Amino acid sequence: MLRERLQALDSEWRQVPRAVEFERLIEERLGANRVRHSISVTKVLHLVAGDLGLDTASAVSAGLLHDSCKAMKNEAMLETAERYGIPLNETHMERPNLLHGHVAAALCRHEWHVADESVCEAIAWHVTGHPGLGLLGQALFFADFSEPLREHPESDEALRIYDAQCFRSALRYAARAKLDHLRKKGLLIDPNTEAFCAWLDTRGVV
Ligand SMILES: [Fe+2]
Ligand SMILES: [Fe+2]
Repeated sequence: MLRERLQALDSEWRQVPRAVEFERLIEERLGANRVRHSISVTKVLHLVAGDLGLDTASAVSAGLLHDSCKAMKNEAMLETAERYGIPLNETHMERPNLLHGHVAAALCRHEWHVADESVCEAIAWHVTGHPGLGLLGQALFFADFSEPLREHPESDEALRIYDAQCFRSALRYAARAKLDHLRKKGLLIDPNTEAFCAWLDTRGVV
């Protein structure tokens, strides 16, 4: 069971290249709660990556850095996005924080020397998902939604589905639950969020 495996997981994720460096980086940029969340995501992703045959070093980098720009102020977020040529849509202008994945990916590519493009892609799209997202990105989306420090009951359910069914069923559940939550709150929804759900639905369950 994923939850039990997480409890049994020691700090082996810290042994992968650059893990300690990236942990320090986020400690400088984020508050304690967000750092705890990032480490929790990293642990889930480390296990899931192992299950899916993905590189665990890439998983640890993606988990640690995915929210590295979450605390940026709106003005800095938009300014950094423009500097790196990130295309902005109407939703971004209204909710600049939705850009925190794309902006973090740009810093990974241009400032933090993260050469693994699958890590940058995963980080860029972890907020909304998008059709055709690579497997590491899918795993990060799932880990971000389901890590056990999340307080919503859907987190638990996503972990349960992972064990009872499979990764793809759990990911579909997570993507749908996130979309439903945004709709319920009446928040402006990025079109990629809906497109990601629809894409996952068309692929069926393995
Ligand atoms: Fe995030
Ligand atoms: Fe996150």
